[in-house]
Amino acid sequence: MRIDILTLFPNMFTPLFESILGRAVKEGLLEINVINIRDYTLDKHLKCDDTPFGGGAGMVMMVEPIARAIESIDPNHSAKRIYLSPKGRTLSQKVVGELKNEEWLILLCGHYEGVDQRAIDLYIDEEVSIGDYVLTGGELGAMVLVDAVGRYVDGVLNKDSLEEESFASGALEYPQYTRPADFRGIKVPEVLTSGNHKEIKKWRESESLKITKKNRPDLIK
Ligand code: ADE
Repeated sequence: MRIDILTLFPNMFTPLFESILGRAVKEGLLEINVINIRDYTLDKHLKCDDTPFGGGAGMVMMVEPIARAIESIDPNHSAKRIYLSPKGRTLSQKVVGELKNEEWLILLCGHYEGVDQRAIDLYIDEEVSIGDYVLTGGELGAMVLVDAVGRYVDGVLNKDSLEEESFASGALEYPQYTRPADFRGIKVPEVLTSGNHKEIKKWRESESLKITKKNRPDLIK
C-alpha cells in the first residue's frame, strides 16, 4: 500500500517511521511519502496561507499550492484522496476496514482554520475526522489513520493479532497478562496458567463481555 501525506509540517511525521510501521516501511510492505505543500507554492515568499474572505480569526490554507501538489502527484486521480477534518465521517474500525483495501491513499492535512473549500471540492473524495474534538491540524489525525490502516497491510502483523483484538468480534478485548505469574502478591487468573484451552477461551469471552458492558454498552446489540 502507498500513502502520500500532504502537509505544511513534514517533521511532525517522524513517529510513523518507528516501531511496527517503521519496520513495514523498511521492508517495503508499506510506502509512506511525506510531501511538503510549501514545495508547490508559486509565491516568491513561499506563502501558503492567507486571511479568510469575509473576515474572522486565523489563516486559511490557499488552494493553489494544494492543487499543484495533488495534480503533480496524482494527475489521473488514481488515489483515494482524504482530507482530515473535524467535519468528516468519524474514523472507526469499520472505516479502517474499507480504507485498508485501497492501494493508494493521499491524505491532505489542514492547519490553522483549515483549507480553502475549493481544494476540497476539486480534489478530495472524502473528509475523515478522528473524533469529536478539534485539533490544531490534520497531522495527528493522518498519523492515527495511517497507523490504524497500515497494521492491516499484508505482512505487517500476524493474522492472529488482528483476529483477537478489540472490535474484531464487535466487543472489546479481554485482559492480557505475561510473566511474572505473581507480581507483589497479585497473581494472574489461574485459568490462564491451567493449559486448558477450552476454559481459557470461555474465560476470555466472559471477560470480553464484562469489559464491553462496563465501558461500551453501545457495542452490545
Ligand atoms: N483536524 C482538526 N481536528 C481534527 C479531527 N478531529 N480529526 C481530523 N482532523 C482534524
